[in-house]
Amino acid sequence: MNNNNIKRGGFSSSFGVLAATLGSAVGLGNIWKFPYLTGANGGAGFLLVYLLATLVIGLPVMIAEITMGRAAKANPISALQKLDTQKRLPWWLIGVAGLAAAFLILSFYSEVVAWVFAYVFKAMGGSLLSSDRHVTEAAFSALTTDPVQSLLWQWCVLFFIGGILLMGVTKGIEGIAKKLMPILFLLLLVLCAVSLTLDKAGDGLAFLFRPDFSKVSSGVILTAMGLAFFKLSLGMGTMMTYGSYFRDDQNIPQTTLRVMAADLCVSMLAGIAIFPAVFTFGFAPAAGPALVFITIPAVFSQIPGGHLLMVAFFILASVAATGAMLSLLEVPVVILHERLHISRTRATILSIAILMVTGSTCALTGSVLADFKIAGMNLFDLFDFLSSNVLLPLGGILLALFAGWIWGRDQFTAALSNHGQLANTRTISVVLFLLRFISPVLILLVMLKGLNLF
Ligand code: PFF
Repeated sequence: MNNNNIKRGGFSSSFGVLAATLGSAVGLGNIWKFPYLTGANGGAGFLLVYLLATLVIGLPVMIAEITMGRAAKANPISALQKLDTQKRLPWWLIGVAGLAAAFLILSFYSEVVAWVFAYVFKAMGGSLLSSDRHVTEAAFSALTTDPVQSLLWQWCVLFFIGGILLMGVTKGIEGIAKKLMPILFLLLLVLCAVSLTLDKAGDGLAFLFRPDFSKVSSGVILTAMGLAFFKLSLGMGTMMTYGSYFRDDQNIPQTTLRVMAADLCVSMLAGIAIFPAVFTFGFAPAAGPALVFITIPAVFSQIPGGHLLMVAFFILASVAATGAMLSLLEVPVVILHERLHISRTRATILSIAILMVTGSTCALTGSVLADFKIAGMNLFDLFDFLSSNVLLPLGGILLALFAGWIWGRDQFTAALSNHGQLANTRTISVVLFLLRFISPVLILLVMLKGLNLF
């Protein structure tokens, strides 16, 4: 299908490219998933595996996605069709799988964002101020077990994000990211500074940074790799879509490296803000997905100025979630817009309408659908597991193979070096080598082992 006649938006400045891409990477993955997964999987050992997966697998796949997106200047499905000159296999199906992954992730992610938005107001009102875990637990379950509240908050989130997307790529996505990213870092630094003054800060830091490899199993390795994909928004065409908005003179390896480093930095800072507080007040680091919603309010209630800090924490999480949600929703919007030839406005409304249905299956897991389980998981957990541990790594393997073997060495090299303007041939060779031989094999091995397939 030809979409040359559709005028595409794009990021206008170099800082805008960085802010928007970082805005996609940084999200509830850093503030919610990273702390609870690190807590539940034994701390520093998990962190180390996650770091390795980010460097060896995440980085090359991210470079490949952005480079292909920029070269094709199209949505992921059309981009793969354009770049596939051999036309022997239907590689564009990776884009279709990406679309499915986007809806799966958005369905549960928008519900967590809904809790975060609701918590900003609850924190302001003071109803979460209690050092008694049972009180904060009751507050969380009052929200998640109420079908009406869960759905309404989720829809608010969807309308809010949809509204920003309607402003377009340059004004909406880039404009918002440029304002939100600095606020995010500032809030995070304040929270870390407070956390580090607490009594048992040392224990929290030791948990985060002193590795204990006895807890690292193949399941843990799969989770760490899934987190690396989820964190950098890889394997489903998000970075390919953002790559299609990149400027032609943007230095892709440098931008990717900066995004990766800044994203890691946010996760570390989130860990430094959370674990010292958790240890000081005697909570369990392995509290699971509820860590942020139950433990954090209880912890902040015991710190001087905790009321304000709690509000700051949930605003921080909302800020982080907004950039990530924008990038997640942009995938279906741009695919529907360009493939079905409907306006961006209609594509946005259609995507949100679909999500109000698919998302409700996750919003209602705490209430009406509590007993509905597949393979022992409720739909919220199932969507999370399927996307992070199956679809994203699978997309990663296929995208790496496509970039490394199908698109062609010369095209890849030309596109990544800005047609010879950047003299980074060594970097390009290393990236190509990783994409061709290392990343796909490693991802496959970890997936097979982690899913108990051999
Ligand atoms: N990277 C985001 C986070 O860590 O919260 C989540 C995400 C965004 C995953 C976009 C996938 C994606 F395509």
